[in-house]
Amino acid sequence: MKPVLTKAVFPVAGMGTRFLPATKASPKEMLPVVDKPLIQYAVEEAYEAGIREMIFVTGRSKRAIEDHFDTAYELETELEAAGKHALLEVVRSVQPSDMQCVYVRQPRALGLGHAVLCAEHLVGDAPFAVLLADDLMQGQAGGPGVLKQMAEVFARTRSSVLAVQEVPLDHVHRYGIVAGHDMGQGLVDVQHMVEKPKAEVAPSRLAVAGRYILTPAVFERIRAGGRGVQGEIQLTDGIAGLLATEKVLAFSYAGKRYDCGSKQGFLQATVELALQHPEVGAEFRDYLQQLNVV
Ligand code: UTP
Repeated sequence: MKPVLTKAVFPVAGMGTRFLPATKASPKEMLPVVDKPLIQYAVEEAYEAGIREMIFVTGRSKRAIEDHFDTAYELETELEAAGKHALLEVVRSVQPSDMQCVYVRQPRALGLGHAVLCAEHLVGDAPFAVLLADDLMQGQAGGPGVLKQMAEVFARTRSSVLAVQEVPLDHVHRYGIVAGHDMGQGLVDVQHMVEKPKAEVAPSRLAVAGRYILTPAVFERIRAGGRGVQGEIQLTDGIAGLLATEKVLAFSYAGKRYDCGSKQGFLQATVELALQHPEVGAEFRDYLQQLNVV
């Protein structure tokens, strides 16, 4: 049977200003957490959810992402000649043979909604996932990843699914916020959605994390939405437009989100993933204990 969800869009055309100067000439999405760039965590999550066509919406200074998911012929030849087979496997595993990568440019960073629109002709008339690589998501130990959990909800309901988590009231102005009817099993039937509301007017504390499964009707709605908060073409406004004609579900996933678009979140991800890492974890734990910082 053909999988219901075959394509994922990775908007990677943002400026990454919060990480300047690191992001002056290299993409934020290539910042490594321990030994893997952020974008690879997101691509692996989509692959685990059964998706094989990865669509990257790129911009200036993003060439490194294309190179990362391409064959590294010279490097592979060198590793093979040196008999470094384990490393060769690491390099090759970045791009499994059944995975296809496609690139489209967003000429100007006009907002996340605009970036998603740039992928419209590649997505076509099919449901698709959107993953923001700067949100690094981890499922629970031994359990499915966040997008896989969402894909299961989508396969059951055929409705758009947004990953959500509750945030403190003084953080709601940083997120798209949703509110609606509780359906049980971690699902909310969304009735309202608003981008970066002030705490006083936020309809809830349920914030959208950087994972979406959307029906193709969203493209028309993004176009109709025009420019929103901060003068940007917002994905949130497009999804809010969808609510008039389609059911949209908010899903409280099992797992953890690291906001690697911020320095604080990036550092937390680095420490926690380093502690879990099979090669460096034990030694790193000893090191942290010696630091005696708490
Ligand atoms: P952010 O606003 O978090 O990313 O957008 P940014 O603009 O790169 O970072 P700062 O705030 O300047 O540090 C969320 C995601 O949407 C993408 C970004 O690449 C990021 O993955 N994005 C945003 C686009 O692809 N195009 C845009 O026009 C805006």
